[in-house]
Amino acid sequence: MVCFATNNQHKIEEVRALLSPDFPLVGLDEIGCYEDLPETQATLEGNSLQKAEFVFNNFKVSCFADDTGLEVTSLNGDPGVYSARYAGPQRNSTENINLLLKNLKGIANREARFRTVITLITPTVTKQFEGIVEGYIIDELRGSSGFGYDPVFIPKGFDKTLAEMTLAEKNLISHRALALQKLVGYLKASKII
Ligand code: IMP
Repeated sequence: MVCFATNNQHKIEEVRALLSPDFPLVGLDEIGCYEDLPETQATLEGNSLQKAEFVFNNFKVSCFADDTGLEVTSLNGDPGVYSARYAGPQRNSTENINLLLKNLKGIANREARFRTVITLITPTVTKQFEGIVEGYIIDELRGSSGFGYDPVFIPKGFDKTLAEMTLAEKNLISHRALALQKLVGYLKASKII
């Protein structure tokens, strides 16, 4: 059994779609963890490690945790590790997008990337996996699927936003899917699953 240390139902759905149906993946509620996981570090690597360590140390189950940031080149990598709280602690996606578009007003370079870092902790190993999707930020919101910054992010080589894609389309290219594929490859190679 491996626990995905997240309270975000969207993410659990994304991950389940990538795994075979018999993969013994459980969420935090299934191991009795109802607390907010600590994420007080200044990097994606630090936060994903902190969350995974919290679950492993307190619940003694193999687990992985992810942390993702939208890194915008002309904003010096912001909002980055603060992506969820960009417009304030209320973690509101619409407000985050509005602030992002305001800060990019008049700026020609719209280059951005989503970067995910996953930390896996088992009794024998602690390991990190990274996934990146490059793209750019558009000025208007398009599409209604997905979450977060999806309506303003167009991946490189595409003409629609992540929010205009189906979950299956997003899972072929997304930062989290790429990091997750590396994780699953590792679990299989090391015979953990
Ligand atoms: P988290 O660390 O995965 O919770 O991600 C932090 C923040 O990045 C989220 O609150 C979202 O605003 C944003 N984010 C993460 N993954 C995605 C995604 O797949 N699409 C759009 N925004 C995302």
